[in-house]
Amino acid sequence: MKLDANALQTRRIVLGVTGGIAAYKSAILVRRLKDFGFDVRVVMTHGAQAFITPLTFQALSGNPVHTELLDPTAESGMGHIELARWADLLLVAPASCDTIAKFANGLADDLLSTIYLATKAPVWLAPAMNQQMWAVKSTQRNLTTLVQDGIHVVMPEAGEQACGDVGLGRLAEPEIIATWVNDFFAQAEREIWEKFGLLAGHHVVITAGPTRESIDPVRYISNHSTGKMGYAIATACYAAGADVTLISGPVSLPTPNGVRRINVQSAREMLTHSMQLVEQGCDVFIATAAVADYRVAQVAEHKIKKAGDELNVSLVKNPDIVATIAQQKKRPFMVGFAAETQNIEEYAKAKLQAKRLDMIACNDVSRSDIGFASDENAMTVFFAEQYQMDKEELEKASKLDIGKQLVEAIAKALNKHVPVS
Ligand code: C5P
Repeated sequence: MKLDANALQTRRIVLGVTGGIAAYKSAILVRRLKDFGFDVRVVMTHGAQAFITPLTFQALSGNPVHTELLDPTAESGMGHIELARWADLLLVAPASCDTIAKFANGLADDLLSTIYLATKAPVWLAPAMNQQMWAVKSTQRNLTTLVQDGIHVVMPEAGEQACGDVGLGRLAEPEIIATWVNDFFAQAEREIWEKFGLLAGHHVVITAGPTRESIDPVRYISNHSTGKMGYAIATACYAAGADVTLISGPVSLPTPNGVRRINVQSAREMLTHSMQLVEQGCDVFIATAAVADYRVAQVAEHKIKKAGDELNVSLVKNPDIVATIAQQKKRPFMVGFAAETQNIEEYAKAKLQAKRLDMIACNDVSRSDIGFASDENAMTVFFAEQYQMDKEELEKASKLDIGKQLVEAIAKALNKHVPVS
């Protein structure tokens, strides 16, 4: 089964959880899948509910959990056919011996096995079971059948099992399963986008996340940036065929597939790496980082001791990374971001000029439904005058989708070959 060509929408995963002690690991798996930006709906077999409750998955996935095949209320909401159609990928983890046998033989006596038969989406299984049940001929025969049917398998690991046995059959770690699935999407998306080649042959450097400015060896000044927008843009650029380097402040996001990542702490470190990469050759520079405007003038060598009711720390201005790069002779196509609460067009255009950018993407941060920690965003994009391009409104969408639209806007402007001089 192949992934369809609907590239870079937020990917939807139906996660099937079957009965086995490893079901507790599926809770962590939901978290890891959400970290990658997937929309997850959980389907549980009856066996799974003996180990973990639907409520756990509902809370973690943010979606209702599906358990019954012949439940009139569920069928009037999202029934098995809708779920099968909704899925961009069906992942079953842990996949029990019984479920593997059902899938291999076309049985459909519960919700999960029915979805399996009814979906056109690619299917991934992460089996987990007692080592003897894994090794037995019927299980291996069923797995061979499924692999021949085009099903992907994340192999179980060897080691000590909950039942006390030692051997092959432990569920692969949630991080590993989530990474396999993400890589699968990323690779497929890149193949689709490479056909369009919007950024093929271009080296794109992206700054992302917050910076951290030390006060002393244990304290720092920072901000609430999560890095989600920058990481989504990196994913979109890679999918568009670019060679991508992400210069990232401290965030808790996984590195997007195919992207080179350089971790930094302070604004000055971010600037040093940015300059180096631009000198080495960079075609597009996208500054999404929430760089701390100020740093501590004199970082204390030792932890500052608590004393008195007041502590005065003197701050000095940090370098403006995007503006510094824009002043270089051999400058890349420069994209900046702005967060405004009013007079968006006026302020964005002023920033575009002041920082000598080619393009600026502006957030309306007075809106509470988008921005910083949210998975969604909406933006208005302005171009430098010489491009003679109208502003573009990017309506509220997932950050990945906004990233894709930004890539399209960048590619359009790049083709005009009129960099700001
Ligand atoms: O000046 P302001 O912080 O509003 O500008 C935001 C834009 O400038 C963003 O693209 C941000 O990444 C970039 N910036 C930077 N270095 C700074 C401050 C902001 O690159 N020191």
